[in-house]
Amino acid sequence: MQTMVKYNVILFLFVSMVLSPITFFMCSATESGDESSKLYIVYMGSLPKVASYSATSHHLSMLEQVIGDSGAENSLVQSYKRSFNGFAAILNDQQREKLLAMEEVVSVFPNTNFHIQTTRSWDFLGFPQSIKRDQIIESDLIIGVIDSGIWPESQSFDDKGLGPIPKKWKGVCKGGANFTCNKKIIGARSYGNAKENARDDLGHGTHTASIAGGREVQGVSFFDFAKGTARGGVPSSRIAVYKLCGADGGCTGINILAAFDDAIADGVDIITISIGSESAVEFLNDPIAISSFHAMEKGILVSHSAGNSGPNPSSTSSVAPWLFSVAATTIDRQFIDKLILGNGKTLVGRSVNAFPSNGTKISIVKRSCSESFNKTLMKGKIILCELNGFDEWAFQNGAFGIVSSVDLGINDVSFVTQMPSVNLDLKDYVLVQSYTNSTKSPVAEILKSEIFHDTTSPRVASFSSCGPNSLVMDIMKPDISAPGVDILAAYSPISPPSGNSGDTRKVNYNIESGTSMSCPHIAGIVAYVKSFHPDWSPAAIKSAIMTTTKPVNGTYNNLAGEFSYGSGNANPRLAIDPGLIYNITKDDYVQMLCNYGYDNGKIKQITGDNSSCRDASNLTLVKDLNYPAIVISVAAETPFNIKFPKKVTNVGSKNATYKAIITPIPNVKITVEPNILSFKSLQETQSFVVTAVGRVGSRQTEFSSSLVWSDGTHNVKSPIIVHIKS
Ligand SMILES: *[C@@H]1O[C@H](CO)[C@@H](O)[C@H](O)[C@H]1NC(C)=O
Ligand SMILES: *[C@@H]1O[C@H](CO)[C@@H](O)[C@H](O)[C@H]1NC(C)=O
Ligand SMILES: *[C@@H]1O[C@H](CO)[C@@H](O)[C@H](O)[C@H]1NC(C)=O
Ligand SMILES: *[C@@H]1O[C@H](CO)[C@@H](O)[C@H](O)[C@H]1NC(C)=O
Ligand SMILES: *[C@@H]1O[C@H](CO)[C@@H](O)[C@H](O)[C@H]1NC(C)=O
Ligand SMILES: *[C@@H]1O[C@H](CO)[C@@H](O)[C@H](O)[C@H]1NC(C)=O
Ligand SMILES: *[C@@H]1O[C@H](CO)[C@@H](O)[C@H](O)[C@H]1NC(C)=O
Ligand SMILES: *[C@@H]1O[C@H](CO)[C@@H](O)[C@H](O)[C@H]1NC(C)=O
Ligand SMILES: *[C@@H]1O[C@H](CO)[C@@H](O)[C@H](O)[C@H]1NC(C)=O
Repeated sequence: MQTMVKYNVILFLFVSMVLSPITFFMCSATESGDESSKLYIVYMGSLPKVASYSATSHHLSMLEQVIGDSGAENSLVQSYKRSFNGFAAILNDQQREKLLAMEEVVSVFPNTNFHIQTTRSWDFLGFPQSIKRDQIIESDLIIGVIDSGIWPESQSFDDKGLGPIPKKWKGVCKGGANFTCNKKIIGARSYGNAKENARDDLGHGTHTASIAGGREVQGVSFFDFAKGTARGGVPSSRIAVYKLCGADGGCTGINILAAFDDAIADGVDIITISIGSESAVEFLNDPIAISSFHAMEKGILVSHSAGNSGPNPSSTSSVAPWLFSVAATTIDRQFIDKLILGNGKTLVGRSVNAFPSNGTKISIVKRSCSESFNKTLMKGKIILCELNGFDEWAFQNGAFGIVSSVDLGINDVSFVTQMPSVNLDLKDYVLVQSYTNSTKSPVAEILKSEIFHDTTSPRVASFSSCGPNSLVMDIMKPDISAPGVDILAAYSPISPPSGNSGDTRKVNYNIESGTSMSCPHIAGIVAYVKSFHPDWSPAAIKSAIMTTTKPVNGTYNNLAGEFSYGSGNANPRLAIDPGLIYNITKDDYVQMLCNYGYDNGKIKQITGDNSSCRDASNLTLVKDLNYPAIVISVAAETPFNIKFPKKVTNVGSKNATYKAIITPIPNVKITVEPNILSFKSLQETQSFVVTAVGRVGSRQTEFSSSLVWSDGTHNVKSPIIVHIKS
């Protein structure tokens, strides 16, 4: 999951050592399984459109061919048969290769682990409670939440005042013994270990579901912080829960495919998935890319978290062009915390510290933290620990509080902690160290957190994963950004708010950070736009949101800012009336995949229709996809002249004339031909070509321009990034 954990750094080291080569130790479950057998996913593209087709018997007969009659049934772990075709099975190398050679097989890849990565945030986006909306149409929209389940009793999922469940709904409520669906949570399923239990034991799924579609609940807070009305983007929408990540795991490729297989067939309108892998993999080996392609075919837009591996370049694993990949930004509300030293000096740091001080100054232990530190010395004291995330350790050893320093650039998040704590800039941390060095009995007081109004927001969060796209450099990723820092939303009372197992506080609302939180904000906005334009394609809705953004503050070393925050911060108010849209059809995506290198056989298999590649594959034509953003990838010191054919569809006023406005940039001349587009009717499509000519120096840092089509009312803005290939 893609929530930020405060012990990110430490946990990452330990966990990745234990878990990273994810082999499957279930050999006893199959007679044919030898030592090298692993769990693989066999992807077969679309389902044949033949009524008599039985996916499971086809899967078994394929396995019989490679394993033999006796082993096939034991080897088959899961069949995908509702929305696309494929299965998961335990295979050895030889069996895997035999399957890969079969005509009906598109790809075979190992099962891997994924991570799960107020509503002030909505006001901050310019989306007040009073915004115009049609609750009747909204209540016909179903948001599929693929996550860690949900806490069904949360007030955010109350169904008071909601009409009957939409007729199109084909799902079920199989959330387990004590799990009751209602007219808000209309469906629940679970996968993996969590069979028949969709109750959220992590808090993550409850948080994301309530951000996307939670009801309006007044007077909520986290220990009186951030008090106000909690609400999701579309409070009248319905929620369908697909649980696969839980306290006991289950966050795997196999389960992701199974959840999508069901969600698409159940009839959801939008999917939000705040789960990702550590790094990008080939589209046909990526469960999220595969499933969301089939979702797109059915008109379902998938909002996906970009990941929390920023700010390194190419750190996002959400790279498929049909995904809506979401970065995280700050909002104007921050949680700060004060430390008063014995010498009277006050330092300001971060944390969501709910513990009030009674004014007593507490002794500081002089040495910094380490596992070998004498624990008796910690009792009742404030610990100095330059690393983040030792609060659980300090708490277990009886410390009173902890003062730490921001690490690895994650300096813009306030984490919920289990005891009084403050996280300081390194400069201030050193001040505390020199104070403790300078006196025999150093003491300090840690105050309860306060709210600070940040006028520099939105800024992109330091942890938010970045582009450029590591698979197809010409497709800008991430696409968009939304609030993902210190977001208050519903939570599971059985999950500790700080994430520390020893934290026994029970809360119904909690503050969390991550692209996990920004992703459902976008899902909510997608639903909002869809409630005005139910017939728009996923690409049209995505274009509407991407071309109407608000700017994000940020300069990022040598990377163009757009590689951090995408087109900018989503602006729902404008997104419902974008003027023009950059539409992309399924066939456009297919031609892009052809140019990317997939052959006709694979294309037919994936699409399940007569789609085929029009020309021989040509990687340089991938950029011709009608994406609402342009990446000009060039080599330094080499003259270039690159053309980007585009087309826009008029969805604004019947009669409209748009003029192209290009922001000038050094060393690259960008022109648009024609630079005036006149429309006579709605749905009319017009083509134009953007040409970039120039040469950039090897010492030049990346930069960006933009193309705005303006009719005086609508300003349809696309980023243009000049990316210098290394
Ligand atoms: C259902 O809830 C009851 C009462 O809270 C509890 O005793 C029981 O163990 C729960 N059952 C399951 C399967 O969680
Ligand atoms: C203040 O808090 C400290 C630390 O918990 C405690 O030892 C002390 O007794 C408290 N003092 C008063 C006056 O409550
Ligand atoms: C830890 O510190 C206490 C108090 O100063 C001392 O009594 C004890 O011997 C120390 N233990 C170790 C293992 O050093
Ligand atoms: C404080 O003292 C410790 C050990 O005595 C030393 O390593 C550290 O550099 C000192 N720090 C400052 C800021 O004076
Ligand atoms: C952008 O953020 C920086 C600090 O990160 C701040 O100094 C600057 O004023 C901000 N700019 C705007 C336009 O808010
Ligand atoms: C976009 O293209 C789809 C076909 O893929 C079409 O159904 C839709 O009407 C087009 N326009 C909009 C605004 O969605
Ligand atoms: C593919 O084309 C053939 C011949 O034109 C046609 O008979 C068949 O129905 C088509 N199949 C699909 C799935 O469109
Ligand atoms: C690929 O397309 C470009 C642009 O149309 C063209 O110049 C080039 O010759 C093509 N390459 C191949 C191998 O067809
Ligand atoms: C469209 O524009 C033409 C010429 O500018 C004008 O004569 C006509 O009245 C306009 N129609 C509408 C519906 O605004």
